Amino acid sequence: MTSKHLIARFHFGFSPRLRASLSLWFTIGLSLGLSLWLGMGFAHAIEDPYAMVDPIDTQHIASYQRYIERCATCHVALPPAVLPTQTWQVLIHDSAHYGVTLPLMSHFDQRLILNYLQPYSYPSQSRSIPFRLKDSAYFGALHPDVELPEPLNLRSCLECHAGAGHQNYRATDHPA
Ligand code: HEC
Ligand code: HEC
Repeated sequence: MTSKHLIARFHFGFSPRLRASLSLWFTIGLSLGLSLWLGMGFAHAIEDPYAMVDPIDTQHIASYQRYIERCATCHVALPPAVLPTQTWQVLIHDSAHYGVTLPLMSHFDQRLILNYLQPYSYPSQSRSIPFRLKDSAYFGALHPDVELPEPLNLRSCLECHAGAGHQNYRATDHPA
């Protein structure tokens, strides 16, 4: 056999079926790679500027993003630190929500979101758990000497935190 024949066999020796499946895997690999690359670009966009109050570390970005998708459509997203960890645990597992019914969340989504809320909040020291910010000691502690509006609702955050609509609670327009 000449070397020319050898090369020809090397290149075209694959059966048409094998070639088809190889090109299928190539396409899958390419699109996976592309979406990973795009996903990373998106994650960086969230990472900088900081999320909410604290800089968010890379391992919590997916959880944070899902929290925003599920919990910032009807009202502003609340920074985890304003309520105790126990409150978040109840809220995330309950679809009966302050008079409205939330769409059912998969077990996976519940775990994913708590994966963000837990490390950025603190456990309650008392046995009664607040479900309103006005009753939350942590919310109060973050607002020492601030004259808060009454009633305090989720729209009032925007009065002083102009960036609350895009999850920025660091800046305040309020002359504190
Ligand atoms: C379908 C719309 C909707 C979605 C989605 C939603 N909420 Fe709410 N949320 C409401 C309404 C309505 C209230 C009650 C507002 C009121 O009474 O002032 C509320 C109130 C709250 C309050 C109480 C705030 C206070 O002090 O009065 C918290 C905390 C809260 N939501 C957290 C969440 C979390 C966490 C999620 C995601 C799991 C979520 N919300 C998703 C509609 C929604
Ligand atoms: C009357 C104005 C006012 C309202 C309304 C208000 N805040 Fe604040 N908030 C402030 C001020 C001022 C500070 C800074 C207080 C300090 O550091 O002494 C602050 C601080 C915070 C912090 C801590 C920020 C940090 O850098 O550590 C969070 C979180 C926060 N607010 C969330 C909320 C949320 C959520 C709402 C709506 C339920 C809200 N605030 C409503 C004025 C307000």
